[in-house]
Amino acid sequence: MPLVTMTELLKKAEEGKYAVGAFNCNNMEIIQAIVAAAEAEQAPVIIQASQGAIKYAGLDYISGMVKIAAENTDVPICLHIDHGTDFQQVMGCIRKGFTSVMIDGSKLALEENIALTNKVLDVARAVGVSVEAELGKIGGTEDDVTVTEREAALTDPEEAKTFVEATGVDAIAIAIGTAHGQYKGEPKLDFDRLKRVRELVDVPIVLHGSSGVPGDAIVKAIELGVRKVNIDTNLREAFVNRARQVMAEKPNEIDPRKILGPAREAMTEVIREKIRLFGSSQKAFS
Ligand code: G3H
Ligand code: 13P
Ligand code: ZN
Repeated sequence: MPLVTMTELLKKAEEGKYAVGAFNCNNMEIIQAIVAAAEAEQAPVIIQASQGAIKYAGLDYISGMVKIAAENTDVPICLHIDHGTDFQQVMGCIRKGFTSVMIDGSKLALEENIALTNKVLDVARAVGVSVEAELGKIGGTEDDVTVTEREAALTDPEEAKTFVEATGVDAIAIAIGTAHGQYKGEPKLDFDRLKRVRELVDVPIVLHGSSGVPGDAIVKAIELGVRKVNIDTNLREAFVNRARQVMAEKPNEIDPRKILGPAREAMTEVIREKIRLFGSSQKAFS
């Protein structure tokens, strides 16, 4: 079926009180792993590409491969740019058929973030593309910041209300203690903050940096209103660990398919587990 929008998927997720998995892709095998998992679980999925992914694979390859994947399956698939920061690039993605975009103005002052998000929304609305924005700063686990700095980066619920009222954005990514990459310890999520945002804001909430967050914390976040959960690092780990294992077991193997095939299968399994955790299994057609 043709690609669907994020708004359509998240509306159903809100009705059913589950979250849709948003999985990062960089190449063909990853796209195939995401679709295989979605089919096996009969789940809707969001396939997203970061600026790094677009630089690596090329926009034409990413959009071409994901469109082919969607056309060859019945499960609903949305194609989304993850952490787009550049207006022109986001427009380029829309032109190439992305059905959803993230405009990440989180490093800007509130007013500038609102202005940039509205600029994207003006175009996206005209062509039926969904928009995710970010408020608060979701950094990387490797970022060298103090506890006070980390705390200051968390989303202010009142600001979230102002932001959503001023933009009418389709989904909002908030900072509640998660970070991108591998955690050193166990991440502590600020559920009170999430609850407060939910009380003040009536759009689906997006959780970034979700790899390595304990399952019960993910489930609680979904209970409190998270409707899109972003996963990248755990997929990379599954893929590369399996590839490493195959190469260690068969040091003379020179056929990339014999290495990437098992890596793709290992990734599919992890995605299936995530889909079940998010409650989106069997939700493709309901
Ligand atoms: O948000 C971060 C994602 O994991 C994408 O990472 O920029 O290395 O592609 P990347
Ligand atoms: P992780 O790599 O920590 O799962 O984060 C993914 C993400 O938030 C992509 O936007
Ligand atoms: Zn992210």
